[in-house]
Formats: sequence, structure tokens, C-alpha cells
Amino acid sequence: MDILPITPTIGAEINEVDLAALDSSSFAAIEHAFLKHHVLVFRDQILTRDQHKNFGRLFGELHIHPSKRNGMNQEDPELFIVNTEPDAKLTNGEAWHSDVSCEEIPPMASILYVTRCPENGGGDTMFVNMHAAFAELSSGLQQLLIGKTAHHDGEIDLRNYGISLRDGQTYPKASHPLIPVHPKNGKPYLFANGSFTSHIEGISRWESDMLLKGLYQRAATNPRIQCRIKWTPNTVVMWDNRSVQHRAILDYAGFARYGERVSVLDRERPRAFQLT
Ligand code: SIN
Repeated sequence: MDILPITPTIGAEINEVDLAALDSSSFAAIEHAFLKHHVLVFRDQILTRDQHKNFGRLFGELHIHPSKRNGMNQEDPELFIVNTEPDAKLTNGEAWHSDVSCEEIPPMASILYVTRCPENGGGDTMFVNMHAAFAELSSGLQQLLIGKTAHHDGEIDLRNYGISLRDGQTYPKASHPLIPVHPKNGKPYLFANGSFTSHIEGISRWESDMLLKGLYQRAATNPRIQCRIKWTPNTVVMWDNRSVQHRAILDYAGFARYGERVSVLDRERPRAFQLT
């Protein structure tokens, strides 16, 4: 297996591996690379839906998206379809986010398998390293943020797509540490995003807005801690929803893009980072 970092801070391409036929040493190498690079790219993969799900299950239990739990879409509950038609004005995940951070236990990883790419190019996905987004803050600001809790509300994201809940439907809301500790590497990361986070609890709304806006803007505009993935048909990209945020780019009007995503549940709720 050949592992080529995309940048020193985030992302790696892994070649010469078939995700449908992994042995235990290849899986161990992928798990290690996942924790080191946070975003992994596997090209030229031919996977059935079951093989895609089985790859996800190697990391843990598969997440069922709240839209499926609500009965909005009952097809294969563990698969989230990312289908953008040529005349689409919106696509899934166009703002920076961590997938469904509004869940009590958010998914720790997502694995998107894109089989159709726009023929004229475009449709890339951007990623930003949220460990690095926290690490670059001054220690005074870090200390202010550590110990705070942020509220995440899935309806914020739904409203971005013009969707309102019908009677009897609910969507998750949860409060999580603003600076959790990554359960595998022990490092703090910034866990708030414009798609799901409504506010930081325990401070005034204007202070919360000011802090979140500044933090989002810095992460979104700092290319030193980002990478941008160019898809080719039959590429799988796997990312860590704790240590990175991502955004899709709809810049391919007139062309279609199709992918299917599975996400893997974390084993516990995000835990607050504590200074020792
Ligand atoms: C997403 O999972 O948010 C979608 C990413 C993409 O389509 O590139």
C-alpha cells in the first residue's frame, strides 16, 4: 500500500488497495493513516453497496441519518445519497460543517463513494483540520474556549435547504464541548460549525456570535490547514468528523454528480478537553 500525503497537515491518497478485499494488516495501515492524516482518498474502487457498508463497519456501527429516522427517505437507511442534478441550485453540505454534529453521539467518520463526477470538472470537496484551527489560537483565546459548551441544532441545517419539519417529525439537537478531546489521539479540536451550531452556552448571544463568526472565518480562509480533493469516478474519501470539517463545492452547473455516503457512529459523546 502506498500512502502519499496531500499536505503536511491534512489528507493522504492511498494507492494499491482494494477496499472490498482488505486483509487485517491493510486495515491496520488504513486505520493508522486515518488517525494521522484525517482525510483519506482511495481511487478506482469498485464497490457494491454492501462492500461500501462493510468497509464502514470495520470502524464501528453505521449511523442512520436523522432524515431516514424521520421517514423523509426510507431507502437503505445506512446509506446517505448525495445526488446533484444538472439543474441543481443547492447541493448537500455546501457550507463548512462536521456531519450531523447535532446528534447526541455524532458520527466519528464519513465515507463517501462518488461514482459520477461532472464531465467538465468541478465538484471538489474542501477539508480543514480542526486540531490545527484550535492549535493556532493564542493561549489566552484557547483558555477562554476550553470548558465552554456549544449547542447544535439540526433544524438550522434543514432551514438552509428550505426544509421544515412536518408535524410529528423531530430532528436532533445536542450540546457538546466546544473544545473536545479526540478519543484516539488525545488532542483538542474546535467543534462548532455554521451548519449546526446555534450558540455557545453561558455567554451572551452577541459574544457567542462574535466568537463563532471569527473562528469560522479563520478556519475557512486559512489554506495552510486545508486540502481540496478533486474527485474522479469511483473514488472513496473517508474523513474524521472530529478532527476535520468539510464543504462541497457546487461549481458544475449543467452537469451531474452522484455519490453514496456511509457514516460510522462514535462510541461515546464528545468529551471536554481539560488542561493538565
Ligand atoms: C457531505 O458529506 O457533506 C457532502 C460532501 C460532498 O458531496 O463532497
